[in-house]
Amino acid sequence: MDAAALVLAAGEGTRMRSALPKVAHPVLGVPMVRLVVDAAREAGIDRVVAVVGHRAEVVESILEGETCVLQEQQLGTGHAVMSAKEALADLTGSLVVLAGDTPLITPGTIRALVERREEAGAAASVLTMRVEDPSGYGRIVRDDEGAVADIVEQTDLVPDKLGIDEVNASTYCFDVEALLSRIGELSSDNAQEEFYLTDMIARFHDEGLGVVGVLTDDPEEAMGVNSRIQLAEAARVLQSRINRAHMLEGVTMTAPDLVWISPTVRIARDVTIGPMTFIEGETVVDEGAHIGPSCRIVDSHVGAGARVDSSVVLQADVGSAASVGPMAYLRPGATLLERSKAGTFVEIKNSTVGPGSKVPHLSYVGDALIGSAVNVGAGTITCNYDGAAKQSTEIGDAAFIGSSTMLVAPVRVGAGAVVGAGSVITHDVPDDALGVGRGRQENFKGWAARWRQRRAQGRD
Ligand code: UD1
Ligand code: CA
Repeated sequence: MDAAALVLAAGEGTRMRSALPKVAHPVLGVPMVRLVVDAAREAGIDRVVAVVGHRAEVVESILEGETCVLQEQQLGTGHAVMSAKEALADLTGSLVVLAGDTPLITPGTIRALVERREEAGAAASVLTMRVEDPSGYGRIVRDDEGAVADIVEQTDLVPDKLGIDEVNASTYCFDVEALLSRIGELSSDNAQEEFYLTDMIARFHDEGLGVVGVLTDDPEEAMGVNSRIQLAEAARVLQSRINRAHMLEGVTMTAPDLVWISPTVRIARDVTIGPMTFIEGETVVDEGAHIGPSCRIVDSHVGAGARVDSSVVLQADVGSAASVGPMAYLRPGATLLERSKAGTFVEIKNSTVGPGSKVPHLSYVGDALIGSAVNVGAGTITCNYDGAAKQSTEIGDAAFIGSSTMLVAPVRVGAGAVVGAGSVITHDVPDDALGVGRGRQENFKGWAARWRQRRAQGRD
């Protein structure tokens, strides 16, 4: 689309009561301002400029790679546009202006605003919505012909405008030259002593340059977030939008109200997701996988047909038909290859578990390379940390590690080898050998019977 976008993101957002700038607060794991910029990009807008100010470095790091201009003092939305004047000077045609605190805005609506302004040859189009409770929003004043004539802020309302339930969504498309040639003339003569971008609307109307009001039929989409309560409402709306989209694409959710998926997650069809499940970041889930109930999966891959139950999976790779949990913890660098298993109370980090290999119960596996068809007995621990550095463990194909084994790294258990239960393995075990490292058992004949007798006679 042949338009540019300006995203206003310099405000503090005092009503959030936060050290973090308002637009940096995440909705389903993605900062609000990022969602707004992404919507503009998806609408087909290549040139995006963001206005940053309050804790600019935080917002700039969220928008890494985007053009940011600094509004040193936050003197209002009109002033924010003035701050970007130089950065936009070479532009002609449509400039979409978006607020960094309207995270639910969609690409379709952005495109509609541009099209409606261009079709009408108007100086501006403005997104409006009808709401039950208009408090806090700027009210849309229409003239006798129904054209948008003015926007009046809450704090400047006079009683006869109190009944207006059509409000400004803070999403506009302007003719960039008409906007920038007049923006410097705004005054701050109002209740908040701010330069209001909204005052441009009356100006254009009075000059006969045309303002198109585009009323949305989905007021939720244009919702502005000013408080933590509205932040939670925005998350609820986005959750429902995302889950419905996945269900339409063939994902089963047994209780979608209890599933939270970030917009960045990709899920193939015939995946089933149980309740109390969070899937975040750059996670990819392949066809037919079962996730949940009670999982948290972040920046990970879950392969086709894999099952993850009641587990936490962070920056890990679960291979196809692999099984995780219940109660497993896969940490960064855990790679389970196809058909392998990380079972109950198993923690794995920076390790590869080979095809068909199993770590079924109560184990810690760190910095290990496990071959195929290995069985790691219950309670096995890789002792990977010597107090100074991390050491690695290698277990060859088809090895069998008896329960409660300590593998003191660096150490290697060869292919086909067997390790006796309860061993502390400090030396390599060759291929096909038996490694046992534990105290020898001794039996004392009749000892228990004698002990019971002494006890019965009160001598012990
Ligand atoms: C604004 C609109 C109001 C509309 C509402 C919708 C104005 C004057 N009012 O009010 O009509 O109904 O949004 O949500 O525009 N910002 C800056 N620099 C500043 C001030 C604000 O970049 O100096 C940014 C903020 O970071 C925020 C956005 O502009 O992302 C909107 O500012 P905010 O103070 O929230 O405006 P509202 O009072 O909500
Ligand atoms: Ca706002």
